[in-house]
Amino acid sequence: MSGRIQAFITTMMTAISNCTLYSRDHASVDTLVKKAHDLLEEILEENSPLSVMIVDSDLVINKSPLKNPGTHGLNLMKKMKKKGITGIEFMKGINKNEILRFIADISEQGKKPGKYPHIKTGVIDVRLGGLQVGDDIDLDPDGLAAFRKEQVNKVRESFSTFSPFRKLHSSGLEEVVTNFIITFRREANILNLISPVRTYSEYTYTHATNVAVLSMFQAETLGADDNLLHDIGIAALLHDVGKLFISQEILEKKGTLVDEEWDEIRKHTLYGARYLATVDGLPRLAPIVALEHHLRYDGKGYPDLKREKKAQHLVSQIVAISDFFDALRSRRPYKRDWSIRDILVLLREGAGNEFNPDLVENFSRTVVTALKRG
Ligand SMILES: [Fe+2]
Ligand SMILES: [Fe+2]
Repeated sequence: MSGRIQAFITTMMTAISNCTLYSRDHASVDTLVKKAHDLLEEILEENSPLSVMIVDSDLVINKSPLKNPGTHGLNLMKKMKKKGITGIEFMKGINKNEILRFIADISEQGKKPGKYPHIKTGVIDVRLGGLQVGDDIDLDPDGLAAFRKEQVNKVRESFSTFSPFRKLHSSGLEEVVTNFIITFRREANILNLISPVRTYSEYTYTHATNVAVLSMFQAETLGADDNLLHDIGIAALLHDVGKLFISQEILEKKGTLVDEEWDEIRKHTLYGARYLATVDGLPRLAPIVALEHHLRYDGKGYPDLKREKKAQHLVSQIVAISDFFDALRSRRPYKRDWSIRDILVLLREGAGNEFNPDLVENFSRTVVTALKRG
């Protein structure tokens, strides 16, 4: 990528963050838009249009994938994914006003890009191996099974790239979240998007995926916008990441756990939160949910945060319900699996003490509707 294109991306991303921090009328935004316009005019003079695309997890500029997109390039990809766009084209003749409108639209939470005379934006077209999400995914049982399997595999791949000692690569997780958000729009039966757990070794990835689906679905029925759904999905996928810091020996122990072993398992909340707080580019919700998902509505649960009257975050309450539901319906060495109706009864028993009663009500209603649909 030429230095000028790099400079343009940096200027545009800085303008977008200043627009979010201050407003579109702020002097710094005006200066940056002017600079972006000057750079863009020079770039387009040489080669028009300038095309920016996301293909798989790469940023592709004028049809060539970037080996190292840099911080601003990565942020640009993240912004585009959040907005549901996979391609942008800037064309000759563009003026400052259009750039400002585009930057302001991108910086505003929940706002989709509009129409601009010299900027074209492409919509989501996420490829999953041979399967393409969107109008082409088959919603018959086989198509859905393939879709679910693909998502769980992506989560498995992403998880395998990180360890306590390595950096987290979250682009696979971003894709999974985006794919589910699109699929919700077409497949309203939540139970069809939940994956069965076949073997114990699959549990970690399948559970993470299912908790994300259930949490995003709850949030969607409560009216959350795409940006929030995205952040909830990422946070839910990572809620148990702290378990990577606990020895396999304890996690997979067949017999009864002794007190010290339970204490260690409970620490996955602290380990996860501490780890996620250090990872760049994750939603702020991720460490919060990792820390709080075993807290209870009545303030009990773990870890003991020694805080008074500070409520568990609403998203942690949502994830706690998804976590409970999926843990009970999946076979684990120390639990039997339950029928969905049994789990709903248990959830209702926990409403008001373990779980937020309004969320339990909303969740039960959604699941019961799904059950009736069959
Ligand atoms: Fe957990
Ligand atoms: Fe969990």
